[in-house]
Amino acid sequence: MVGSALFSACASSEGSKAEQIITGFSQEPLPYAYSALEPHIDAMTMEIHYTKHAAGYAKNVSEAATEENVDTSKPLEEVLGNVSKYSTKMRNNAGGHYNHEMFWSIMSAEAGGQPTGALAEAINTDFGSYDAFVEEFETAAKTRFGSGWAWLVLDGNTLKVGSTPNQDNPLMDISDFKGSPLMGIDVWEHAYYLNYQNERPRYITSWWNLLDWTKVAERFDSFKG
Ligand SMILES: [Fe+2]
Repeated sequence: MVGSALFSACASSEGSKAEQIITGFSQEPLPYAYSALEPHIDAMTMEIHYTKHAAGYAKNVSEAATEENVDTSKPLEEVLGNVSKYSTKMRNNAGGHYNHEMFWSIMSAEAGGQPTGALAEAINTDFGSYDAFVEEFETAAKTRFGSGWAWLVLDGNTLKVGSTPNQDNPLMDISDFKGSPLMGIDVWEHAYYLNYQNERPRYITSWWNLLDWTKVAERFDSFKG
């Protein structure tokens, strides 16, 4: 479904479909400095997170692709949608790579606030209000036991909030929670422990200041088609 849904119409042409957002197998450059997201995410956490954890997933997913004869010129999303057919190494690292590429891309220093336009309307329709959405998302993020991610996804025409364990994500065929990820928060301790120690809720609350709703809206437009 993911592969066949690809299209490449220009996002800037009024009335045309937005450009489909797809993910490759290589680690993209971080779109800001390690210190750019301070004080909400400190520079050392960012540097270790990007150069060690995320770089490891990128390296290992490429390795797994070679080992399992995956054509890396195709979108990573195709592997995720059929991940049950691959190894545990592929599942963990394809998920880890996708999740972190998404995570870097939806944060920025000049962020925060609330969504606008069609995305804001959809949030109001599906959750009742922006505040109700925030509460549901924070609950998903706080209550994910151990390591994992909380997500806002588009499932058909409906927005949903949920979470996944470890480096699983809602694109995976093995996931209980499915949809196209509009945004997600990394709640592994490596994402916040240096600055927040055991206080995951404080990290989650602070993280809203970094969420770039413009980028989330681009993903919404892309997946809505
Ligand atoms: Fe992470």
